[in-house]
Amino acid sequence: MIDLRSDTVTRPSNEMLEAMLSAKVGDDVYAEDPTSNDLQEFVASLFGKEAALFVPSGTMSNQICLNLLTKPGEEIIADADAHIFYYENGGPARLSGVQVYPLKSEKGEIPLENIKEAIRQNIYYFPRTAVIAIENTHNRHGGTIISLDYIKQVYEIAKENNISMHLDGARLWNAHVMTKIPLSEYAKYFDTISVCFSKGLGAPIGSMLISNRSNIERAWKIRKTYGGGMRQVGLLAAAAKFAIVNNLHKLVDDNKKAIAFSLLVNKSDLFKIDDSKVETNIVMIDKNANISMNLLINKLKEKGLLISALNENRMRAVFHLDVSFHDASEAANILVQSAKELIEQ
Ligand SMILES: Cc1ncc(COP(=O)(O)O)c(C=O)c1O
Repeated sequence: MIDLRSDTVTRPSNEMLEAMLSAKVGDDVYAEDPTSNDLQEFVASLFGKEAALFVPSGTMSNQICLNLLTKPGEEIIADADAHIFYYENGGPARLSGVQVYPLKSEKGEIPLENIKEAIRQNIYYFPRTAVIAIENTHNRHGGTIISLDYIKQVYEIAKENNISMHLDGARLWNAHVMTKIPLSEYAKYFDTISVCFSKGLGAPIGSMLISNRSNIERAWKIRKTYGGGMRQVGLLAAAAKFAIVNNLHKLVDDNKKAIAFSLLVNKSDLFKIDDSKVETNIVMIDKNANISMNLLINKLKEKGLLISALNENRMRAVFHLDVSFHDASEAANILVQSAKELIEQ
């Protein structure tokens, strides 16, 4: 089965499992897990920040960050397709008592004028704008890379208005390997950063929240409150460290697989991929043919290909460690062939 539903479906390699088995562990709720402590220091230094905290998921990491940066009744400006708005169960409202002000964008970069317009004036009936959140790479826009230049401009606007900056960098690794911009350069413009090890890097579980020391001290308490205090978590931290050291550079190949797939699919007029947006490992495929999405997805599954349907017209394919170059071209063939067969039926 070729599984392109997400880059979260990878399984740990034997080498990663060996690294996990040999990890030194302790009780992390007592801050005594040496492998987790080491990973936190290592990642904080990669990003040029003071401290970091290992958490179970990207969602928890984002939500702790938003809790750190806001007070109840405040507001967060985010892209209307941002993970924090779209896929986190209203977490900002439930966990922090804040609302998200969602703004539309083409590829995750909300026009600066629209951000300025959305920032609340200081009038007693307006919520205070506390945070501007950026997602890089942007999942629902198709793995698009948010440019450093854009980030700097948003940062200036935030600074002028005393607003904090949050980065949902679940896939910042992918942006970093493609642009070669150091992680620490991206990090300069954000108060809090969340990155995931469980996506393209191929670790089974885990994310990291990165910030200054006083935020991380507060984050320990919030993580415990959300039920994210873990015990002998060094087993997972070892997998995350292994993933950074051994798999980070391989993310370039995931982009090459995504491009190879897109070129093949675009040869058929049954589908349309905007190849100018295939910047990392995610491909958005629009269906031109008048066939039911449900039938298509089922047919693909019968032929050994799993792809996510985002709506009746759009599918998402994500390339990762457990998909080879051969799988990528095979997936394109299966997709086009299945659509042809459904039309002929
Ligand atoms: C951009 C982005 N942020 C956050 C998350 C949440 O990560 P998790 O599934 O670990 O909660 C995801 C998951 O796909 C994501 O794509």
